[in-house]
Amino acid sequence: MRVVFLGAPGVGKGTQADLVSAQFQVAKISTGDLLREAVRNGTPLGLEAKSYMDHGKLVPDAVVIGLVRDKLADTACSNGFVLDGFPRTVLQAEELGMVLRSKGIELDRVFNFQVSREDIVRRLSGRRSCPKCQATFHLDFAAPKVDGTCDRCGEPLMQRSDDRRDAIETRLQVYDEQTAPLVRYYDERQLLSKVDASGPVDVVFKNLSRVLATYQVT
Ligand code: AP5
Repeated sequence: MRVVFLGAPGVGKGTQADLVSAQFQVAKISTGDLLREAVRNGTPLGLEAKSYMDHGKLVPDAVVIGLVRDKLADTACSNGFVLDGFPRTVLQAEELGMVLRSKGIELDRVFNFQVSREDIVRRLSGRRSCPKCQATFHLDFAAPKVDGTCDRCGEPLMQRSDDRRDAIETRLQVYDEQTAPLVRYYDERQLLSKVDASGPVDVVFKNLSRVLATYQVT
């Protein structure tokens, strides 16, 4: 299985990518997670990426393309992968195509997650994350057992700096301008499938899994 999860911030790509990765034993490659890890570790790449991320802007293409190229070379991807949050520009999509072709492989499918803007803002503004184990919660839809505390490791939960109202607005604008053109890009290549991601997590996953099972390598 070699698939891309495309969609605006907060539609639930990361949540579904985690479930798919566990269910189908494929690698999850999330550029957002990789960049946040670099920021936490204070690497030069992380220091460069931080201000773009805090303001909801895209990190330069060359940086994220390099990250994904390295990950795709990893043996963890030999059983397939879910790309979460990459590509996000037409240039990134073209580069991805070139990297995959150089390996003699291609994408099976690109899933375009769709949720109303109102729900997106609600999902993002209610998200809380664990700074230690990176578990994700939601104040209304996936609340932790103890208020403000991670169920997994007991660490106090935090709000992502880019989940504040002004950064959410910038991210949605950036999505419309730079990422939404990928819907047409992949549709023209007959790779695009729509995903109604408006329902509860388990319902979205059930519907998605049914389609993804077609691409599972046995
Ligand atoms: P990234 O981390 O990729 O952020 P994003 O794409 O904006 O996506 P999110 O993680 O915000 O949302 P999601 O769709 O994964 O939703 P989630 O499942 O978490 O990127 C962050 C930043 O890094 C970017 O702004 C940019 O600066 C940089 N970056 C990353 N990739 C880049 C690239 N390729 N190029 C350049 N820059 C890049 O769910 C959200 C919330 O909703 C959670 O609380 C969850 O519990 C809840 N939820 C999920 N599903 C449901 C559901 N079905 N019902 C109710 N609640 C739900």
